[in-house]
Amino acid sequence: MFTPPPQHTLVPRPTKSRFKSGHFTFTADTCLRVGKGAEPAADLLRTTLAPATGLPLKPAADGAFVLAVDSALTGLGGEGYGLTIGRDSVLLRAGDVTGLLRGVQTIRQLLPVEALSTTPRHGVSWALPCAEITDLPHRPWRGAMLDVARHFQPLRYLLRYVDLLALHKINVFHLHLTDDQGWRMPVAALPKLTEIGGRRLQSMTGPTGDRFDGVPHGGAYTRTDLARLVSHAAARGITVLPEIEMPGHTRAALAAYPHLGNHPDRVLDVWTRWGVCDTILGLHDEVFDFCRTVLEEVVDVFPSPYIHLGGDECPLTEWAGSPAASARLRETGLSSSAHLHRWFLGQVGAFLFRNGRQPVGWAETGTELPDGFTVMAWRDPAHALAAAGRGHEVINSYHRATYFDYAQSDAGDEPAGQPGGVVGLRDVHGYDPVPEGAAPEAAAHVLGTQAQLWTEYAATPDRIEYLTYPRLCALADGSWSGPSTWADFAARLRGHTARLDALKVGRHP
Ligand code: ACM
Repeated sequence: MFTPPPQHTLVPRPTKSRFKSGHFTFTADTCLRVGKGAEPAADLLRTTLAPATGLPLKPAADGAFVLAVDSALTGLGGEGYGLTIGRDSVLLRAGDVTGLLRGVQTIRQLLPVEALSTTPRHGVSWALPCAEITDLPHRPWRGAMLDVARHFQPLRYLLRYVDLLALHKINVFHLHLTDDQGWRMPVAALPKLTEIGGRRLQSMTGPTGDRFDGVPHGGAYTRTDLARLVSHAAARGITVLPEIEMPGHTRAALAAYPHLGNHPDRVLDVWTRWGVCDTILGLHDEVFDFCRTVLEEVVDVFPSPYIHLGGDECPLTEWAGSPAASARLRETGLSSSAHLHRWFLGQVGAFLFRNGRQPVGWAETGTELPDGFTVMAWRDPAHALAAAGRGHEVINSYHRATYFDYAQSDAGDEPAGQPGGVVGLRDVHGYDPVPEGAAPEAAAHVLGTQAQLWTEYAATPDRIEYLTYPRLCALADGSWSGPSTWADFAARLRGHTARLDALKVGRHP
């Protein structure tokens, strides 16, 4: 079978590349000349190449492989890099170490695919094609969201998930930590959140009806787990964006601490159904104390400049009859529960701003989130347009192009997934996060896009990877490289799947 050379199958594709004849070949004697500030990239190169190649890549002042941070390289931005591969030497340089980390991923892809193996491979020539590459991202926000609330995934899987994101130059790992069906974020002052809120008795077996599997499900992270995740991601140039849902999608928290709800004497279970739950946080002072306590821990654990507060799918029926809601309406002079929803998020968002962080929320309309919030628009491109027009930063996460919980095709043998749609590889590939009709100023507010994987119907890593790949390759390619023709992308992806196979990714065919 014909195997295309690796330079023809890069995903994402570099901005500018010129390949030449000849190779640089790593040997056991190849040493790294590591400039000041470049050590994390040298570590990543060693860590990722060691399992398959066993290359020591020792440091040496006259090493043939040079890694250099040069702050004068401002044209490359925070993530760009330049890579010169000659027969006798390699120069990887960037204005910021993050650019070097991106360059390391390109080097991994340029090597023979065996370099990605997790076990030692002998008899392979670890050759890089000679090249001149200048590469920088099309969009600053290239994310992937994983819902670990509906189905918990252990730390070891999150580390692998991050490794796969890094290979594709994704830079935000959005971790959906809390929801009606489970609370996974440890908060020292509120231990019942994970002790009670981290377990549910059983789960619905389909999207509707009253059939349950009878199998308890649970799990929560420790602070040590999350610290490990954050540092593993940072070592790959990835920010972990935590999401704590409020005021809706909080049934698990209310099962742990019923006094935070609108009916303090009510006993609730951690939700065992899927769908939108109408039990939400109340509006009394204790609720805001709770949010602050949780977020103090969140900002302590996660250095991300952005913190996601959810805000989506929040039925306001419980506030309609609530004395605390009536009191808040009097106090604020606001006229409706919908205004109180915005006010709620504004109060909590202000706490984040005071702590030097930027709140993010899901858009239900594109006009409802408080000023200063970064908006994730998921329902409709018109919401992204409205939010960008109002001056919000926008991450366009339109469900018809970025929700990977939908099936990848309508073939009869596709495993049951989120009902209501198909998101095909071509839908992801052709997706432009800048909504149609955006004026240049509004378009400039669109930071990028990200994949969403809600896990009601994806309980295991196998299912997660089947749903994520190869669609994530398309999202990453468009986000890093910009638009490409289908023929160009499809041809590169055909070769790139050998890399996914080497990494044992149980991808969709
Ligand atoms: C969402 O899909 N509820 C953001």
